[in-house]
Amino acid sequence: KKTGFIFDLDGVIVDTAKYHYLAWRKLANALGFEFTQEQNEQFKGVSRKRCLEILLDIGGIHASQEQFNNWLIEKNEDYLSLIEKMDESEILPDVQKVLTLLKKHNMPIALGSASKNARPILEKVKLMDYFDVIVDGTHVTKAKPDPEVFLIAAEQLGVRPEDCVVFEDAVAGIEAANNAGMLSIGIGEAKVLSKAKFVFANFTEIDVKFINRLMK
Ligand code: G6P
Ligand code: MG
Repeated sequence: KKTGFIFDLDGVIVDTAKYHYLAWRKLANALGFEFTQEQNEQFKGVSRKRCLEILLDIGGIHASQEQFNNWLIEKNEDYLSLIEKMDESEILPDVQKVLTLLKKHNMPIALGSASKNARPILEKVKLMDYFDVIVDGTHVTKAKPDPEVFLIAAEQLGVRPEDCVVFEDAVAGIEAANNAGMLSIGIGEAKVLSKAKFVFANFTEIDVKFINRLMK
């Protein structure tokens, strides 16, 4: 019986939040309103569709279904052009160190992300080989804080949920991990991720001893 390690993507493995932000801000500005970094916080871990709903709420804009869908496409095209040149240099500090350590001990590793762009991003930063299982926004019907994404990941890893550990940077993601009955580890600010079992600012703060204790 082994521990399953599940990683969120955006904000845990790579800092794509800044690119999501730029793309959403561009759309907001085109529609005639401001969108701040602070407001962007609530977009973390949240599906593209839900983000647009929140954005239009902020701008007080009512859209037809067709307009809504066109803006979703427009935002994603802008986002894709922003991440086009992403490479290994954008992997967050010590992520590879942790993944390599887990691989060395033959631990099952999964990605559990709300993003529909997860695969192309992992390919760009050349991390595909570390993951036994990838569950992303193309597989999931219920968004975090629903535990679906992590439960599917556990099932595909062949590990019981209670034997899984989740690394997450989003409040909704920590809640999803807790709802799945998994051990939640927040990557970010302790006061934001107060529902996480443990919180670290980033992977450089996590030592080998801590990871060893998680491994079964
Ligand atoms: C992640 C990010 C969110 C983003 C979502 C969907 O969860 O944290 O900010 O909205 O993925 O990403 P996508 O690449 O499908 O637009
Ligand atoms: Mg995230």
